[in-house]
Amino acid sequence: QINSAKVHTYSTVHDLESITKELKDPFILFVYNEDLDMNSNSAVNSDFIFIIDYETEFEQISNNIFKIDGERLNSFSIGTILSLTEMNMKLHHRIVDNLEIGINLTVEKDPGKLYNMILTFLRKATGAEAGTLYLMSEDREKIYFVCSQNSLFDTRMIEKKEVPFNKESLVGFVCHTGDVLNIPDAYAIPENSPYHFNKEIDKKMNYKTESIITVPMKTNSGDIVGAVQLLNKKKSPDAEAEPFSKFDELVLKSLSTLAAVSVENNRLLIETETLLNNMIISSVKAIEQRDPATKGHSLRVSALLVALLKKIAESKKFIDFKLDQQTLKSAETAALLHDFGKVGVREKILMKEERFYPDQLEALKWRLKYITASVKDKNRKQEIQDIRNFTDILYDLNRPAPYSEEQKSLILRVQDLTYNIDGIKVPVLTDLEKSYLAIRAGTLNDEERKDMEKHVLYSFELLNSIDWPFDLKNVPGIAASHHEKLDGSGYPHHRDSSSLGVVERAMGIVDIYDALTAKDRPYKKAMPPEIALKIIQSEVDKGKLDKDVFEIFLKEKDSIDKEVQKKLKDKKFN
Ligand SMILES: [Fe+2]
Ligand SMILES: [Fe+2]
Repeated sequence: QINSAKVHTYSTVHDLESITKELKDPFILFVYNEDLDMNSNSAVNSDFIFIIDYETEFEQISNNIFKIDGERLNSFSIGTILSLTEMNMKLHHRIVDNLEIGINLTVEKDPGKLYNMILTFLRKATGAEAGTLYLMSEDREKIYFVCSQNSLFDTRMIEKKEVPFNKESLVGFVCHTGDVLNIPDAYAIPENSPYHFNKEIDKKMNYKTESIITVPMKTNSGDIVGAVQLLNKKKSPDAEAEPFSKFDELVLKSLSTLAAVSVENNRLLIETETLLNNMIISSVKAIEQRDPATKGHSLRVSALLVALLKKIAESKKFIDFKLDQQTLKSAETAALLHDFGKVGVREKILMKEERFYPDQLEALKWRLKYITASVKDKNRKQEIQDIRNFTDILYDLNRPAPYSEEQKSLILRVQDLTYNIDGIKVPVLTDLEKSYLAIRAGTLNDEERKDMEKHVLYSFELLNSIDWPFDLKNVPGIAASHHEKLDGSGYPHHRDSSSLGVVERAMGIVDIYDALTAKDRPYKKAMPPEIALKIIQSEVDKGKLDKDVFEIFLKEKDSIDKEVQKKLKDKKFN
């Protein structure tokens, strides 16, 4: 409120008409530009527009004198209004800038970027030519030099290191006492002062520090997490350095709290992420301890998936597929945990190496021997010979390999025979044994396979019971899709091409690839990659697996393998 007139300020105005409608008519519009041309049409495009409205009288006495409510408002008054408003504007911009950077600080995850952002932010707020960020170790016993900026030279030349934590250095003093040190001339610090300026860096960098301000970075609870040191406040790059003002001190004090909170949040975030990652790796190791046969499978699938997804994104074959951090992290986590549900599958089934369990095979062998020794019926001589032959090849039949034609017909001949021995009905094979002999692939009969397939449902249920952070909310869904097929023939939810995304399609392929080529599956030796790829190709041909994803996998196989090998050597997995 100036001279009874209300001043409205706008930065860029796009719709002058709607603004003027809001105001009481009449009003004066001041356009902020060099010559204050009120009639200029450039008003709409101008950076600053001032609108003064008033309630009663308005009279223009001369070119630059206005009478408002009986008060004379001359060009000098207008100048005052303008300079006040301009200051207001600058402050407003500073607040908006700070808010923006403040918001960016709170979302920055990369510590290096965060430290640079903080320094830029604080230098911009005060006009400092250079600055350095120091952080205290978690035990608050050491100070580290973590980031430095100087608009005159590349600060990477200054090596990062531990700074002695004593009160003699400016930073040490500030971190110890929590006070701000605002020194107009670094070279004029009295000899008897408790702290000293280290001239070595100036000498080394051929730089002249003049004004220097060191501010502790304190969290809201007063915990000092580090300090910021800013050098040489300048109005413009060529101007002389001037001391930091009281106002700078105030600004730095409040902004460094924001910075301290960001640093602490960043530290907590990284700790939490590391903790989560470690928990995931430990869970994976726990499953693999129980089923050592699949040792390393989850880690390999996860590394394969990440590498393949990167290639898919590069190929631009799937227009809608974007590989952002969130997608990559979700895919990686889901792949690590996809078989986690195996904790719910009976160990006996997980570990089954052949068609029969060893004790069952022994029992069968003894029964067959009992039958051949007991049955004397001459009419059944041929049958008994078949049973003898069958007994002889029992260990061969037990191995999880396809039968020969001869073996098949022998099984057919003996499987339904029954004998009456001493009034007791003795079958050659029980229904359970028949189901084992009927196994065509792998080592599990139908019922056992259904039990085994439940691991996907268990994975989903276990993972779905976790409150995942927002960016990992898709983990249960992705993990549960690794046995789904594009034609709907997969399990557990019979999803099909209409709902299986790129990540799920890629996961389906790498899971099979690793299961086939792994050296440590109990029921078979490692399969050469070429054969595994042929098997996957046949699934692609049947419309079960994605053709384009597989094509990229084939084409980029060498480079994917290399990335996987590199990743598996990472110590966090070992
Ligand atoms: Fe699985
Ligand atoms: Fe798997």
